[in-house]
Amino acid sequence: MLESIIVEFDKALRTVFAAASTTRRAPAPDCPETVLQDAEKAHAGALMRINHVGEVCAQALYQGQALVCQDQAIRQALAKASDEETEHLAWTERRLTELGARKSLLNPLWYLGALSLGLVAGKLGDAWSLGFLAETERQVESHLDNQLSVLPTQDFQSRAIVQQMKIDEISHAGTAMHLGAQEMPQRVKIAMRLAAGFMRRTAYYI
Ligand SMILES: [Fe+2]
Ligand SMILES: [Fe+2]
Repeated sequence: MLESIIVEFDKALRTVFAAASTTRRAPAPDCPETVLQDAEKAHAGALMRINHVGEVCAQALYQGQALVCQDQAIRQALAKASDEETEHLAWTERRLTELGARKSLLNPLWYLGALSLGLVAGKLGDAWSLGFLAETERQVESHLDNQLSVLPTQDFQSRAIVQQMKIDEISHAGTAMHLGAQEMPQRVKIAMRLAAGFMRRTAYYI
């Protein structure tokens, strides 16, 4: 018990404070880095900070859900998706550095909030937990779609990362549905959208 608490705590600390590692190369376009104007670079950096916060939250959500999940097959699926989220975390982190932007100062708070949500969702049982996950991934997909319309058109590097993340998030939602996700009530979906909107507006600046 103590050992698993230490392992999970270590994972949380690494997500928030250490550099993420990845085995998959970051998606990159077939062209050299384009020169962005200062304002475009700042805008792209702020948008990628939002994506990085999203990936910090994804780590925490998956961790919370896996901690209380009793089903071995679901735990394995959560672990696989969580590994891909670690790659997204590493890609967005690297892109932030390339754009001269910083991570969100509120990452410890985002992490704690998402971890609590993951634990609560997990406690509601696998069907609801997977339903929450599927809906989260769908909302992330539509957020990433939106990002493709607001990122500077010539920021091919950020766009390539966002595009690959979108593909992965669609597959995470599909996995959750396949494992027996329950459709979330409309009111919960709206509450999730409002919370995500607040997170996006804050993470753009802080
Ligand atoms: Fe992700
Ligand atoms: Fe995902």
